[in-house]
Amino acid sequence: EKCRILVCGGGNGAHCLSALAASKDNLDVHVLTLYQDEAERWAKHVENENMKLTITKQDGTQYDTFSKPSLITKDAAKAMSGVEIVFLVVPAFAHAQYFTAIAPHLQPNTLIVGLPGQAGFELQCRHIIGDKASSCTIAASESLPFACRIVEFGRHARILGLKDSLGMSALKGKACQLSFPVVETVQGILGEYPKLELLKNYIAINLMADANVHPPMMYGRWGNWDGKPLKEEPLFYQGVDDRQADLLSRVSEELLAAAKAIEQKRKDVDMSEVIHLFDWYKIHYPDQITDKSSLKMAMRTNKAYDGLVHPMVKTDEGYVPNFNYRYTSEDVPFGMVVMKGIADLAGVPTPAMDEILAWGQQKLGKEYIVGSKLIGKDIGLARAPQSFGMTSVDELFDI
Ligand code: NAI
Repeated sequence: EKCRILVCGGGNGAHCLSALAASKDNLDVHVLTLYQDEAERWAKHVENENMKLTITKQDGTQYDTFSKPSLITKDAAKAMSGVEIVFLVVPAFAHAQYFTAIAPHLQPNTLIVGLPGQAGFELQCRHIIGDKASSCTIAASESLPFACRIVEFGRHARILGLKDSLGMSALKGKACQLSFPVVETVQGILGEYPKLELLKNYIAINLMADANVHPPMMYGRWGNWDGKPLKEEPLFYQGVDDRQADLLSRVSEELLAAAKAIEQKRKDVDMSEVIHLFDWYKIHYPDQITDKSSLKMAMRTNKAYDGLVHPMVKTDEGYVPNFNYRYTSEDVPFGMVVMKGIADLAGVPTPAMDEILAWGQQKLGKEYIVGSKLIGKDIGLARAPQSFGMTSVDELFDI
């Protein structure tokens, strides 16, 4: 009997995951996309033909698969019928509406996977699905498993490259009894790559998200900007200066202090995956970094970051920074605000994060933080524990 999975979303990742999974004999794939008329358009394209998926393998060779989901709809009840695993494959700002749509139809022992999750995924999911969380497992990957693009909507998508490895956390509700193992099953759906690694706990991963890098980098570069357009787009990583490196380091220290405080409060929780950013770079880019003498130099000399520039908008006068790019628009509410919130529950002061958030929220026209407290009027639009009324470390883990 086939295992039925649901893919939520209609973008690049959703196209690729649904076509990839549908190409496997043991899987039946449903798609739920709530955005505009995506479901209708996509369903029409595959009425009489399969989707084409072009995959570039690790060795650079390419192959095509031809397959299609058995159902593409915006009707959550139909989409959820008989589903054992739900994947959310949309940017973080779109997660809430999918949690809301699937909640009434969730059966016990369902696996919900954020692919990727991004900070606060589990907290928001638990809040929206309510009591049902204790009979489900909520997993999240650190990133999308592949770099990918739609070639032609509903018809053809391309996996440009698969990651070698990918971390995934799983938060099991106390009454949840999955009939299958989480990592092995998701691995079977993705194929050989990326190699999934089960991470120790989801809070550690929330603290280690990319969002601990992007907002400090943006604030460090643009916090004192004079407003004058630039002739060129400045390098993002290779242009790191002392002020940015200092901010990144201070944020790392605050996150490490939060991790230690959580371990003190909860002897059963292992937070060892939270490490300083400098160590993280040395571990993840051992061969690409040529100067490992400091965090600043490691970032400036990392070949993996060659040529990456700041998010900029071109105007008639020159380039100006784009403060609505995901480095702020996503990585503040679904990133650093979550980290700050976890640190607050742990009782750890976070002056560096507070300063960055005060600036970032102003650029976004939002208010999450007031002074050092997450009591701003827009905190409900972010995904900190405080956005969902949580007040203790225990609440993070007891589900
Ligand atoms: P995408 O940009 O293709 O997602 C667009 C889709 O999101 C739309 O088709 C629609 O289904 C939904 N959507 C957009 N606006 C919406 C709205 N206002 N309301 C409701 N739904 C809306 O995203 P993609 O490329 O699939 O990426 C998914 C996640 O994976 C993102 O967080 C992205 O940063 C991350 N990622 C993507 C990579 C890639 O190569 N595509 C690589 C690494 C990470």
